[in-house]
Amino acid sequence: MTQLLLTGGAGFIGSHTCLVLLQEGHNLIVLDDHSNSSPVALERVATLSGLSASAESSTERLQLIQGDIRDSTCLGKVFIDARNAGKPIEAVIHFAGLKAVGESVREPLRYWDVNLTGSRCLLAAMNANDCRTLVFSSSATLYGYPKDVPIPETAPIKPINPYGHSKAAVEQLLHDLAASAPNQWRIACLRYFNPVGAHPSGKIGEDPLGTPNNLFPFVSQVAVGRRTSLQVFGGDWPTKDGTGVRDYIHVMDLAEGHRAAIDCLLAEPAQLLTLNLGSGQGASVVEVVRAFERASGCQVPYEVVARRAGDAAITVADPSLALQRLGWRTQRSLDDICRDGWAWQSANPSGYSDQQ
Ligand code: NAD
Ligand code: UD1
Repeated sequence: MTQLLLTGGAGFIGSHTCLVLLQEGHNLIVLDDHSNSSPVALERVATLSGLSASAESSTERLQLIQGDIRDSTCLGKVFIDARNAGKPIEAVIHFAGLKAVGESVREPLRYWDVNLTGSRCLLAAMNANDCRTLVFSSSATLYGYPKDVPIPETAPIKPINPYGHSKAAVEQLLHDLAASAPNQWRIACLRYFNPVGAHPSGKIGEDPLGTPNNLFPFVSQVAVGRRTSLQVFGGDWPTKDGTGVRDYIHVMDLAEGHRAAIDCLLAEPAQLLTLNLGSGQGASVVEVVRAFERASGCQVPYEVVARRAGDAAITVADPSLALQRLGWRTQRSLDDICRDGWAWQSANPSGYSDQQ
């Protein structure tokens, strides 16, 4: 049983990953400030993992600490308390961060602070406590407007917004750190494509604050009647039906990618891995709408409007390196994504606030 720290583990991707890692037998400490998540998510993770039957085992296997990754005192205490309890933290999965592109353009200082300063504080605490195994949540946003699709990891890093710049800076910091102490750091930078969907139980899922920026939660909220219609950003892209094409990855496939990355880092010599996590398949906006209508039995009315600034026509991963290095590939289809996304949205029309 490995003791893992998950920063931002109460969020969308973190909560699903917690579930997979608990089922794998790991012990988890989640550090989250709840700036973009509800504690209810982890209560449900505990129930789904069968932990809530015993409060004691629940606290032993899944511990939630409310705190900020920029708070070095809090971080130091997390590592020291775990060591004093006889279960030192062996590896960290670093999800905590801000992720809204438009917001990052309006508030670059906040994005650089949370995403870069927060990562630096975490890395310093890890180093000081001899914990040098890390999985970092990176993003396909690093590729900007990709020239070649499917996109290999060797494609140029050309972010086009402060969010992307902050992720690129953390990847650079991780390279510098690994180079400074050869054979010590085990690092995986996982570049996610478009994570969507939910756990098939419908108990946990994505719960964006306010109006969703991203396609999938917007479509779900139209289907459930929270919004009247979808705006499709551009019908004149050079794609199969004129709408933007993306590589949508089921969040449970992504969670399993983290399990594979942790297993690989802990089993192999020190290394720095950089991997795309995507399906390798592209779906257009209209294909997503149609798949969601089939899964939900609900209409998703839409109108085609002007292109959104900063969008690319097609973004699809070349995920072959992740298969080679981790033995991981996606298992779930767009229809599975929509079925599970609908299970979550229909059971929780207002997200976790339905319970609070
Ligand atoms: P999320 O917002 O649901 O989860 C992030 C979590 O971090 C939240 O629970 C939030 O409360 C917490 N957090 C934020 N700032 C914090 C701080 N200063 N201290 C402690 N906790 C803090 O987002 P997500 O979709 O689960 O994304 C997780 C990671 O993956 C992020 O780093 C994001 O940039 C990256 N990523 C996400 C996507 C996506 O589409 N969801 C795509 C690529 C990369
Ligand atoms: C967006 C971010 C990207 C981030 C990713 C995380 C932008 C420009 N890019 O990517 O940095 O890593 O989220 O998942 O914000 N669409 C509509 N109507 C909508 C919303 C989206 O037509 O209301 C279209 C978009 O034009 C695009 C597709 O749906 O073609 C997917 O959009 P979205 O879900 O926002 O993801 P990305 O643009 O790929």
